[in-house]
Amino acid sequence: MPETNLFSPGRIGGLELRNRIMMAPMTRSRALAGGIPSELAIEYYTQRASAGLILSEGTAPSAAGIGYARTPAIETPEQIAAWRKITTAVHAQGGKIFCQLMHVGRIAHPANRFTTEPAVAPSAIQAAGTMWTDSLQMQEMPTPHALTTSEVATVIEQYAQATRNALAAGFDGVEYHAASGYLPMQFLSSNTNQRTDGYGGSVRNRTRFVLESLEAMIKAAGTAGKVGIKISPAMPFNDIHDADPVETYTTLVKALAPMGLAYLHVLRTTLPDTFEMLRPLFPGTFAAAGAFTRESGEAALKSGLADFIVYGKPFISNPDLPARFAKGAELTPWDASTFYSPGAKGYTDFPSL
Ligand SMILES: Cc1cc2nc3c(=O)[nH]c(=O)nc-3n(C[C@H](O)[C@H](O)[C@H](O)COP(=O)(O)O)c2cc1C
Repeated sequence: MPETNLFSPGRIGGLELRNRIMMAPMTRSRALAGGIPSELAIEYYTQRASAGLILSEGTAPSAAGIGYARTPAIETPEQIAAWRKITTAVHAQGGKIFCQLMHVGRIAHPANRFTTEPAVAPSAIQAAGTMWTDSLQMQEMPTPHALTTSEVATVIEQYAQATRNALAAGFDGVEYHAASGYLPMQFLSSNTNQRTDGYGGSVRNRTRFVLESLEAMIKAAGTAGKVGIKISPAMPFNDIHDADPVETYTTLVKALAPMGLAYLHVLRTTLPDTFEMLRPLFPGTFAAAGAFTRESGEAALKSGLADFIVYGKPFISNPDLPARFAKGAELTPWDASTFYSPGAKGYTDFPSL
């Protein structure tokens, strides 16, 4: 059998993918008022359709899940219709695209939201740090409302409904964002989850929200093969901290293993040997992320450490990243000053070769 490299075709659920390169989910803050993706986003994603699989920017399952300026949701008919234009354009190029469902939990400011509902979290613990708002510049994030047990069920149902909406919008599947200190990771982590009901306390209880959300999403999708998950063990971003990330994430991944998910997407941050620790616990498709180059991606595939390699920042400034990797061409450096700025600059104006 020929060795797997970045250009080997791959398979996720029932999908045939043209290479082993995934485009990372990346918030780009170019959505219109009301959480509607803009026309520019059609061009942005179409330019990047040569990825084996595109993971969309973080997209809120409901208005209550939005925390950042100019970010999209997939709840209303207008939002779904706008997403449909994007998936249609990507498919017309032979590309595939999953919708990343991102509920920010406590990482939110009211000025960035179009609902008057308070931000929610497992416990009423304010996040240290500030965030950008267009009307008030940098602001502290307010203390969130602690979800009651019955409100937890409502949020889980919102993930299920968002899954139905994403498939109706033409997405090939959905990714559950359980990384980067947002709501699911707030349930997983000991500093943000001080609950005394069945969703807090023991490791098993702290993983319950994630597992029940995934079960609801799988039911909504009709198959686990259309549902992936992203985790980032021990990531300190967004004031998140877990007393024992090795125990938390080995417990979680063992529970994910029999679910038949589309894939497990792991972002490596501060924990040494994250991939080596988790890969043997997960029999399904494993996607590895975090500062990969062409060379380190090839090495991870060759050694069997991963089945897919996820590239983030390089895809922002190199829309034809797979072709550049194939040719060994030079990469255009990214420009962090336009990651989240409105408009085409730094978004759709990076040229292909
Ligand atoms: C501008 C920007 C926005 C991001 N937004 C998201 C997001 O919405 N959801 C998510 O899971 N990760 C997000 N990330 C993290 C990336 O998906 C990826 O894990 C990270 O950039 C590491 O990969 P890289 O080193 O190849 O860039 C973002 C990263 C960047 C640079």
